[in-house]
Amino acid sequence: MQFETLPGFREFYPDACARRNHIFGQWRKVARAFNFLEYDAPVLEPLELYIEKSGEEIVGQLFNFEDRGGRAVALRPEMTPSLARLVGAKANGLKRPIKWFNIGEHYRYERPQKGRLRAFYQYNVDIFGEAGPGADAELIALLVQALQAFGLGSDDFKVRLSDRDLWLHMLAAEGLDEDASATVLGIIDKLERMDRSKAIERLAPVIGDEAEAFLGRIEEVIAIRDFETLTNYMQNLASEGDIADQIRIRLGEWEQLLNSLQAAGAGEFIQIDLGIVRGLAYYTGFVFEAFEASGEGRALAGGGRYDALVKKLGGPDMPAVGFAMGDVTLADLLESKGLTPTYVQSPDFIAIIGGPEARDAAMGDAALIRRMGYTIDYPLKDQAFGKQFKEANQKGARFALIYGSEEIEQGVVKVRDFSSGVEQMLPRDGLEASIPDLMQSGLS
Ligand code: HAM
Repeated sequence: MQFETLPGFREFYPDACARRNHIFGQWRKVARAFNFLEYDAPVLEPLELYIEKSGEEIVGQLFNFEDRGGRAVALRPEMTPSLARLVGAKANGLKRPIKWFNIGEHYRYERPQKGRLRAFYQYNVDIFGEAGPGADAELIALLVQALQAFGLGSDDFKVRLSDRDLWLHMLAAEGLDEDASATVLGIIDKLERMDRSKAIERLAPVIGDEAEAFLGRIEEVIAIRDFETLTNYMQNLASEGDIADQIRIRLGEWEQLLNSLQAAGAGEFIQIDLGIVRGLAYYTGFVFEAFEASGEGRALAGGGRYDALVKKLGGPDMPAVGFAMGDVTLADLLESKGLTPTYVQSPDFIAIIGGPEARDAAMGDAALIRRMGYTIDYPLKDQAFGKQFKEANQKGARFALIYGSEEIEQGVVKVRDFSSGVEQMLPRDGLEASIPDLMQSGLS
């Protein structure tokens, strides 16, 4: 009987694993360049952690079950609730701002399709303890740099920037209360994939007869692409009173954020798009998603502010902002742009072993070379010389170390540099000193 992988789960043969690790390597490098510290959390968590905190969409996709102790548990669909718990539990002892990142696998029972699997990796990057737009700017700049690190430019991807806070002010100016606003934001989140008539039907219970005209105004806001138009629109909506004051303050924060992003070199990647409101339950302010520049395909990354979550999970009141990037859509984009590097994982040395009496000497030298941090391989059983050379070539080794009976007798090993074809004898008791030079200069 042959077993297959479960739908939406991947196996990583060495080539695929090397491509995956290339992605992880760039992610880690960029996070460190911004001085974020790496953390980790359990893959299996109490189911309760995700109910309410993550929102309907994710809860409907959980891999959850009862463990042998009768606990309701779930494989993590996202990192944010675990992270908010971790930070909340130690909040007083942690130096702020807390800048942390993680690379880990996550699980969602979605219909497997292009860009969507049931097990995927996320790069989570978050800042806690800073309420001002400086933290949002730092994260969006990091997101842009993390994508640039793969060779992607502003023709390849954009970060769509929006703001749940501004939406709430706008909806308040329209006369909607908090509950009605939450319902409307839920509809806006789905608007791109919904028929107009369906949207009107879903707006009607909160908006009434005016639903169609209301939808028209929402569409107008969603079509705004520059800050000046946004400012004018908002000022026309409310020119005096509390709501107008709040809108003015918020637009000031928008200006700070946009200026910081410009200064950090990320300006050309930013696209104002109030159509992004994010489906997760905990977002409170600026929200953003990275997409391929054409706008097609699933998001490369998504995130935003979630100032209330740490407290909701039992921690102190602590502002937070972060994003997660997925490996699936990113790998697809890199592939389509020809930016997937080809990996050759070849050893530095291959030992060619002349016979049983030479094996011990070769293995002793190999142990030394491995301790020095170089890669050396040798056949695990005795083989003809010709076959060994052929394999050394196939494996792409840089040098052969040839152990024949004569060499063993004389206490030397013959080195062949495969790129120049030059050979030279090296005393075996001086290998520790000669190998670094050999690696540096080769034989010519
Ligand atoms: P999210 O938008 O649900 O946000 O996921 C972020 C990214 O993870 C997506 O843009 C996508 O690249 C990837 N992703 C999500 N689901 C799948 C899937 N089924 N298959 C492949 N890739 C997927 C969050 O998870 C938030 N917790 C992000 C965050 C961090 N917010 C604040 N901090």
